[in-house]
Amino acid sequence: MIRLVEVGPRDGLQNEKTILSTEDKFQFISSLVESGLKSIEVTSFVKAPAIPQMADATELFTKIKNELSDRGVSFPCLVPNLKGYETAKALGVKEIAIFTATSDSFTKKNINATIEESFERMKEVVEAAKNDGVMVRGYVSTAFGCPYEGAMDVKKLLSVTKKLFNLGVYEVSVGDTIGVAVPQQVRSFIRVLKTEFPIGKLAMHFHDTRGMALTNIYASLEEGITTFDSSAGGLGGCPYAKGATGNVATEDVWYLLHSQGLDTGIDISKLAAASQFILEKINRPTESKFLRAYLNTGKI
Ligand code: HMG
Ligand code: MG
Repeated sequence: MIRLVEVGPRDGLQNEKTILSTEDKFQFISSLVESGLKSIEVTSFVKAPAIPQMADATELFTKIKNELSDRGVSFPCLVPNLKGYETAKALGVKEIAIFTATSDSFTKKNINATIEESFERMKEVVEAAKNDGVMVRGYVSTAFGCPYEGAMDVKKLLSVTKKLFNLGVYEVSVGDTIGVAVPQQVRSFIRVLKTEFPIGKLAMHFHDTRGMALTNIYASLEEGITTFDSSAGGLGGCPYAKGATGNVATEDVWYLLHSQGLDTGIDISKLAAASQFILEKINRPTESKFLRAYLNTGKI
């Protein structure tokens, strides 16, 4: 079984200029739950002027907690610091995601901190989360390349990943923030990581900026990775990584896995309906080739 972490409502929508209503986001998330996804990153508790689309995190999470908490689905939320954590905790968030990068230039732009400073913040957050029994997932951005510093050495990824595991995260998601990775690099980086960490504790987070995401997922699967982040319809981007387009589309990943007989627990017609709903709200065509074909033909 392959685990897909759906990041459309957070990574997908955070870059959208059209501010969606909390109700529309909730409808989208409910439909994602209906489709069978078991882990859905729903929002982030960040500074509203930095990411205006996530300004309704409190209202959205409250609605999710009240109406969807009995569905056996995990709803992680991204938090950058203790302030974000405390808000999340007070609302009953049970899983958070913390984030840093392999590039100081990127973390400065993204969270106004160096990598080292980001670890000081994350340490406080993880300590509090441990006390509260809140699960913590870690992200490493710019793992393969940075919009400001260019190609990245695997040694940086290794060292940041090690520090995240030492803090106590249960899994590290390796982010190709600007979609520059290619399969040879992905394979060689994973080979280095798996000499140090159990492969089951690593996830891959590919953006599809240069059309390499699915190929990179295939390479990762062959290296033994079993968890991937993706976003419904291929929504996505990062406001602090210019030109970073969507995450790999969940539908495209589903098709690849399905073709190999790998189970995801997803009902593709329901997932397609969820994507169609949100794409209409943001008035954008899908980035997913599979979804486009499926909607045109009605066939897998
Ligand atoms: P800062 O300005 O340095 O923070 O921002 P500060 O501590 O100086 O505080 C400034 C103001 O922000 C204060 O308010 C704080 O209360 C407030 P004021 O007193 O001026 O009224 N503030 C907050 N408000 C709400 N929630 C908070 C919070 N913290 C402080 N948590 C900060 C630093 C990190 C907060 C800011 O830079 C920020 O929010 N950044 C968000 C960046 C972000 O969300 N980026 C996208 C997500 S990362 C990503 O997409 C990559 C990923 O997908 C993986 C990949 O693809 O690689 C995960
Ligand atoms: Mg991302």
